[in-house]
Amino acid sequence: MSRRRFALRTFGCQMNVHDSEKVASLLLHDGWVAGDPETAELLVINTCSIREKAEHKLYSDLGLLRSWKQERPGRLVGVGGCVAQQEGDALLARFPQLDFVFGTHNLRLVPALVASAEAGLRRAETAERRELDRFDLPLRHPSLSTETPGRAFVTVMEGCDMFCSFCIVPHTRGREISRPALAIVQEVESLTADGVVEVTLLGQTVNAYGRQELRRGRAEAAGTLPFAALLRRLDAIPGLRRLRYTSPHPIFFDDDLMAAHAELRTLCPHVHLPVQSGSDAVLGRMRRRYTADDVRRLAERLRTARPDLVLTTDLIVGFPGETEREFAETLALVEDVGFVDSYSFKYSARPGTTAAEFVEAVSEAEAQSRLEALQALQRRLTLAYHRRRVGHHTEVLLEGPSRKGGQLQGRDPQHRIVHIDPDACPGAAPGRFVRVEIAEATPHSLLATPAVGGIPLRLPASRSGVAPSSR
Ligand code: SAH
Ligand code: SF4
Ligand code: F3S
Repeated sequence: MSRRRFALRTFGCQMNVHDSEKVASLLLHDGWVAGDPETAELLVINTCSIREKAEHKLYSDLGLLRSWKQERPGRLVGVGGCVAQQEGDALLARFPQLDFVFGTHNLRLVPALVASAEAGLRRAETAERRELDRFDLPLRHPSLSTETPGRAFVTVMEGCDMFCSFCIVPHTRGREISRPALAIVQEVESLTADGVVEVTLLGQTVNAYGRQELRRGRAEAAGTLPFAALLRRLDAIPGLRRLRYTSPHPIFFDDDLMAAHAELRTLCPHVHLPVQSGSDAVLGRMRRRYTADDVRRLAERLRTARPDLVLTTDLIVGFPGETEREFAETLALVEDVGFVDSYSFKYSARPGTTAAEFVEAVSEAEAQSRLEALQALQRRLTLAYHRRRVGHHTEVLLEGPSRKGGQLQGRDPQHRIVHIDPDACPGAAPGRFVRVEIAEATPHSLLATPAVGGIPLRLPASRSGVAPSSR
């Protein structure tokens, strides 16, 4: 009998991407094989509700899936992620073509939910689970390693207690919960033993790792460390070459984290630092708990610790009541800090959040024109940074073919996309490091030629075997 095939469709942030990897791993361990939607018997949609558009995408997809199911009897559809967490049973009631629903704390139940659905029982499991065993999943299935050669995500904390007034995440991901440091260390050790060289630590407010346990005097019992101490512990793991974390909150950068950026061999010179706005009045209404000058000082401290460090950010335009002048303060902050890249969004009211009650809406046309102005500024800053890199050497971890075709692309330590010509660099392959010289800057990426003869570095390279990237 042929093995059963599943397909996954993922929306949203890296946490969701990683949750989908966990679901895939669970299904692979359960005997399923990965396929595409055309051939699959099971489709799992991992949803996002951060903005209205993301949520609506699910509803239009579910409409289309009716005919997908009719094409082949026995096909199953499951929905997980942030929309599922919020809607639960209501999704089953509204969409008869849906077979099961799982919340953000119930990934482990997916194989059981599939089994129930096969037996004709439609279930929704969306209870919030405080038990740490929600992090205990089988080891990453070997076939997943080939999808992102050399790189992996590792969850360190989940949930968010910040309740920014615009944001749905605290409602969909529940309260902050941090994993014991030992479990994180063991996971990174097992990944590096399998050839992973770059690990990105994940959490909704990743640098708040362990803070609630510390505040409640439970750090020892919970086995957590301060975030910087966790980074130090991971930095000592042989075989690990690059350590990243995302997304940090600006208020949780302490002196130890600065020191970590100055000292740790693996910690990459890039911080994605969502700031949302450059206006103190707007930041206040957003309940972000810092000022624009706090961000300026933080950027300064990070660059003092690590002069080649690159900052990128997330920004919202058209927040209720945002005036022309307040928006200009956002432009000023972006320019002052010199963000190298940003994701910018038009504010979208999310039912259930505090800001959804704010009445002074900015018009759609105004929000659109602010978005365009912000993105034009960002393009200028990104290109200027890319131009400053021309002629410098760096080290690229190759990921796969470039979209343009014929080239390979990878990331440098600053997380910039770098394209290289594989013919100029024999032996270059996804998962390998290559030393390059930046030859050309484009608005979105860098083009490079191999340095020192273009010999790809061995993987995993010994700690002393690789010269540090030029800064
Ligand atoms: N935890 C991260 C952000 C998670 S959500 C942090 O604390 O910053 C990712 C991004 O989506 C946010 O940084 C924000 O820029 C954007 N976002 C969140 N809610 C939004 C909303 N209601 N409307 C528009 N953009 C939103
Ligand atoms: Fe949302 Fe704020 Fe939490 Fe980030 S810190 S996830 S923006 S509530
Ligand atoms: Fe979306 Fe949930 Fe992430 S709302 S951005 S998938 S935490």
